[in-house]
Amino acid sequence: MDPALQRRIQRYGWDRAADTYEHSWAEQLKPAQRRLLQMAAIKPGERVIDIACGTGLVTFAAADLVMTSGQVLATDISERMIEHVADQAAARGAAHVSTRRLGAEKLDEVPDESYDVALCALGLMYVPDVPSALAEMRRVLRPGGRAAAAVWGARARCGWADIFPIVESRVKSDVCPMFFQLGTGPSLQLALEAAGFQNVASERLTTTLHYDTADEAADAAFAGGPVAMAYSRFDEDTRRSARADYIASIAPYRIGHGYAIPGEFVVARGERG
Ligand SMILES: C[S@@+](CC[C@H](N)C(=O)[O-])C[C@H]1O[C@@H](n2cnc3c(N)ncnc32)[C@H](O)[C@@H]1O
Repeated sequence: MDPALQRRIQRYGWDRAADTYEHSWAEQLKPAQRRLLQMAAIKPGERVIDIACGTGLVTFAAADLVMTSGQVLATDISERMIEHVADQAAARGAAHVSTRRLGAEKLDEVPDESYDVALCALGLMYVPDVPSALAEMRRVLRPGGRAAAAVWGARARCGWADIFPIVESRVKSDVCPMFFQLGTGPSLQLALEAAGFQNVASERLTTTLHYDTADEAADAAFAGGPVAMAYSRFDEDTRRSARADYIASIAPYRIGHGYAIPGEFVVARGERG
């Protein structure tokens, strides 16, 4: 897929997801975000850049860790996500959190060697040019600085994965073609090493996504950025059939009225050296 088109799908799809994202995803993503922050070992006073920050779930956790003597720059390709973080920073009085709309592959105007820690939680799956994004992460780190990244794991271990073919079959194109690539085998670790990071380590985390109803599970799946734009353009009948197909695809994970859908994350860290 054309990388520029892929970036537009992400940018405007995630704009649409900004208001519902935390309701659908904050709890479900916690295990990966928590482990990412542990692996980054952030200390008071440090400068952190959070790439593909979304609504700031990791940004504000990092801001608490660096305390007011440190700084966090939150960046994302989606304007609405960035606005959300800026509003939250103002509401919390977190003057040490700043924001900038930037694609991960080109951190324009972020100086070389200006951060102690670079984070990217659940963002790299959406980036068309991962080597460029990792090169940028490394460029903005000071020598010895740490990077930590989390992605969804192997497709076969993510029980919600049929959301992609279900939407793709209705738009006749790939929605997010590389989504599971970094979560497969040692791909994330190898990508960090190829970008020049040292002492790279990675872990797989098994998780379970809990939903009380079929509608809640479908709302979360269709609110995700890569499918959100296509879904928003579907007519009522197409929406209804796509939701029905998705709910059928997660039927094996039904427990009473709710669902316990298996998932997997890969979390990795490395040093600039
Ligand atoms: C699943 S959310 C993760 C948000 C946040 N890091 C978290 O852990 O909750 C993915 C984010 O990646 C952003 N994104 C997608 N493609 C991007 C790109 N090429 N550059 C920067 N951000 C991107 C989206 O706008 C979205 O906010």
